[in-house]
Amino acid sequence: MRLAALFALLTVAAASELTQVDHVRQKFYNLEQELWVNVTDPQWRDAGLGGDVELTKAFAAFNEHVESIPRIKRITLKSWLWTKVSEKLVIIDGFYKNFMEFVMRQASPASVPSPVRDWLDMAETVLMDPRASVAQAVRKLHGYLEHADMFRSVLQDEDAEVCDLQLSAHQLIFDMYNTIALTEIKGYAMMQFSWMLLRIYGRGNFTQEASLTRQRYAERTGQTATAARAALASAKRDLYKCEPSVYNADTFAEVTRLLQGYIENEVDMNPDNTCKENCGYYTLAQNYGCYKDQYCVKQSRCNGRIIDCQFVDSDMWVCPASHYSSRRYEYIEYENGRVLGKGGKCDLGTTKVDSWWRWLFWHCSYCMCLCDDASYNSHRYFSLRPSVSDIVRNKVVTGIRLVKVGRVFHLKIHQGTLVERGFVESSEEVQVKAFDPSNADVKDGVDYHKLTYERRAIDLDELDSPSGYVLTGVRFQMIGAHLHFEIRSTPFNYTTGKLWPEKSQWISNDNTEGSTKPRSRMQLHKPDLPTRGDKILKIDSTHDQYIEFTHSDFDADAAQSTVPFIDVQPVVPSKASNSKGATLNSGAGVYHRGAPGSGGFIAVKLLTYDYSQHVKAEPPPDELLKEDEGFTTEISNKVEAN
Ligand SMILES: *[C@@H]1O[C@H](CO)[C@@H](O)[C@H](O)[C@H]1NC(C)=O
Ligand SMILES: *[C@@H]1O[C@H](CO)[C@@H](O)[C@H](O)[C@H]1NC(C)=O
Ligand SMILES: *[C@@H]1O[C@H](CO)[C@@H](O)[C@H](O)[C@H]1NC(C)=O
Repeated sequence: MRLAALFALLTVAAASELTQVDHVRQKFYNLEQELWVNVTDPQWRDAGLGGDVELTKAFAAFNEHVESIPRIKRITLKSWLWTKVSEKLVIIDGFYKNFMEFVMRQASPASVPSPVRDWLDMAETVLMDPRASVAQAVRKLHGYLEHADMFRSVLQDEDAEVCDLQLSAHQLIFDMYNTIALTEIKGYAMMQFSWMLLRIYGRGNFTQEASLTRQRYAERTGQTATAARAALASAKRDLYKCEPSVYNADTFAEVTRLLQGYIENEVDMNPDNTCKENCGYYTLAQNYGCYKDQYCVKQSRCNGRIIDCQFVDSDMWVCPASHYSSRRYEYIEYENGRVLGKGGKCDLGTTKVDSWWRWLFWHCSYCMCLCDDASYNSHRYFSLRPSVSDIVRNKVVTGIRLVKVGRVFHLKIHQGTLVERGFVESSEEVQVKAFDPSNADVKDGVDYHKLTYERRAIDLDELDSPSGYVLTGVRFQMIGAHLHFEIRSTPFNYTTGKLWPEKSQWISNDNTEGSTKPRSRMQLHKPDLPTRGDKILKIDSTHDQYIEFTHSDFDADAAQSTVPFIDVQPVVPSKASNSKGATLNSGAGVYHRGAPGSGGFIAVKLLTYDYSQHVKAEPPPDELLKEDEGFTTEISNKVEAN
């Protein structure tokens, strides 16, 4: 098939929507076309400082486009293929550096022109050096790229890439493509320069050779772009944090004292101080006092509702927790041998707590209950205030994080300025609008949500923007009794980077438990603290689920903690952490990471922007291609094998 026809089939979208690298290639084709006209024009060749110097000026100017592309960090992957590809990239980049130094020297107005021999040496090294020419490196590079599906095959273990590099699989492929495509442009530019130079010096016609180089290049880049686009379209764009190496205030926070294991004697749970019932009777109760200053004086009273009491055993030793802890007890050891929590050493010393008989037939039992007390010690609030980027100043969300400020959890964002072709300039943290829920000017249901026994579910959703929109905000809202995650999407012009603020919209998955295909509930089974043990915690929730905050397991933790914990690690794609730019995102989500027997963590993730539609190697302009038609591969092989 003729190249022109082949490309007509492959070309889909408008050139204006191309990636920066693909756009620079178009620019080079245009320059090349103009230069070939000039180079074959004897008048141009002999005018001014001469064709060779004019040529260097044009290439020096073009180099600015190459340099305008943000430098991509060197990608290191444990892949044989990628290592080989990288070797060739390094060779071509090295050549280009020397080449540009030479070009700059010649192009500078004050320079003394180098002898013609030097120029010819350079051209020949680029094109023909049998040991190490650019032409050869480019050929080898493409050989590797044809190898299986390079882009997909290097992605062995998605978790490793996401965890170690903080890049989504999609970003990684995109960076690889940009690295390869840019280096290929450099190689191609050097080769065309060399043919032009040889022509200027009258060493031959070289129209055919240049044309062949062009055909080959167009074919290769077309194939590379097609492979990259296909890999990008299917690659995951999820970006999240994995297990931190240490658990501390920088990596997690807890909802505290939502439903907490609490020891209470039956006698204090009814207004008449009787012991006529049993623990199981008290499914919903409250404290009415402290009968005869028993164990109740030694612990802080539950000022809220007392729920779901049960009898474990009459007599026990209680190990109290430190006053600064959100726990009440470290552990409880019953006389029958059962231990709630991690028994062992007790720093503050255990207290013996014994149930008693009243008139032989009434047992005043100590029950193990749950306390739902929204006192000052309970951190159970989620801000409902939106966290949005400054779209009027063209800023988009470049990072996301859950944080606890005082007693309130907030969604915190990073933002950066969106510029041309999907590039985001360096990003900054946006401070949350913090408040104290006990303040009179903030309202439950408006500014914040207070978790309670009945209202403690959080929806787990993964939300993405429609095509042509990017992420500009996140918030929690209430839908029924559920805390519900939402994203703000704003349309933008890819070419200019300009946002369209008025067209912003909030997006969410409004499915509820009551619908025909209800949200499914994610269950925790006997959850221990996620920070304990050496279980590997993985994402175990899916879109359209929900989970309820609850108490940790009685046996494992005496139900002293609230699970899941909250992962507060910032999710800022790695580019955002250097000043050379940030990552464009289109979506975000709330998920659960855990394992059987663990309470796990609630965490947030991002979906990076889908660049697949912009990756395209457009063909050289028609005028250049026309000259190419009619060559047979036979001649071509002879030239290239040279
Ligand atoms: C090609 O020649 C024309 C006419 O001399 C000139 O205007 C133009 O700048 C040249 N192009 C380049 C890229 O040097
Ligand atoms: C030499 O190049 C010119 C274009 O500059 C072309 O028109 C011509 O056919 C070529 N001559 C040969 C002998 O290939
Ligand atoms: C984006 O902006 C460019 C330049 O203003 C314009 O030519 C193009 O049509 C716009 N694209 C869309 C999809 O609006």
